[in-house]
Amino acid sequence: MAFDFRDHYFHKAKKDNYLARAVYKLEEIQKKYRILRTGGRVLDLGAAPGSWIQLTEKITGPSGLVVGIDLKPIEKGFPRHVVTLQGDIFDRDFVEAGLRDYLPFDVALSDMAPSTSGVKVADSARSALLFERAFEIALEALKPGGTFLAKIFQGTEFHELLAEVKKRFQQTRVVKPEASRKQSREIYILALNLKH
Ligand SMILES: C[S@@+](CC[C@H](N)C(=O)[O-])C[C@H]1O[C@@H](n2cnc3c(N)ncnc32)[C@H](O)[C@@H]1O
Repeated sequence: MAFDFRDHYFHKAKKDNYLARAVYKLEEIQKKYRILRTGGRVLDLGAAPGSWIQLTEKITGPSGLVVGIDLKPIEKGFPRHVVTLQGDIFDRDFVEAGLRDYLPFDVALSDMAPSTSGVKVADSARSALLFERAFEIALEALKPGGTFLAKIFQGTEFHELLAEVKKRFQQTRVVKPEASRKQSREIYILALNLKH
């Protein structure tokens, strides 16, 4: 029998009207670290289909702002304090022009993941490139004191990238949420308080 990926969180997302089970990873991190606040300005990289936006915009409320970017279209309609942009985060002109009017942000999130090939080394290298680019964007887009949360697949690049993040933020945590599948090598680096 084929493995059923539709687990508890999949069904819960359907019931709670969330677009993806991924929301429970952010929800768990939010419960523990309170990174999202009313009135906050949040950048969400790799935002499609949009479950992190759903949770984030509820917390920031209309006095805040959420900007979501993805290669894929984000089809769900959101309230006016949410802006969605379709494009590639490696396209520097697109990112610069897209974010110019919304800077700076309090929080930069990245749940970006590459299309996986099944070859561990190749997949973790691609994930590391996405992480590195998200980190670069976060450094340009965040206010001093800002927060960065990003996914990375554990692999050879992980410790070096974590060390780079540590240089720029006052505190870092490595988080594996309950809602992250045990067999997945994804993990999140949470970095608090961007140094001046
Ligand atoms: C796991 S999904 C994100 C789920 C999202 N957090 C949610 O809650 O709905 C990862 C996303 O990263 C996006 N992505 C991967 N590479 C990207 C790139 N180069 N630029 C923009 N988005 C990218 C994919 O298109 C995919 O939608």
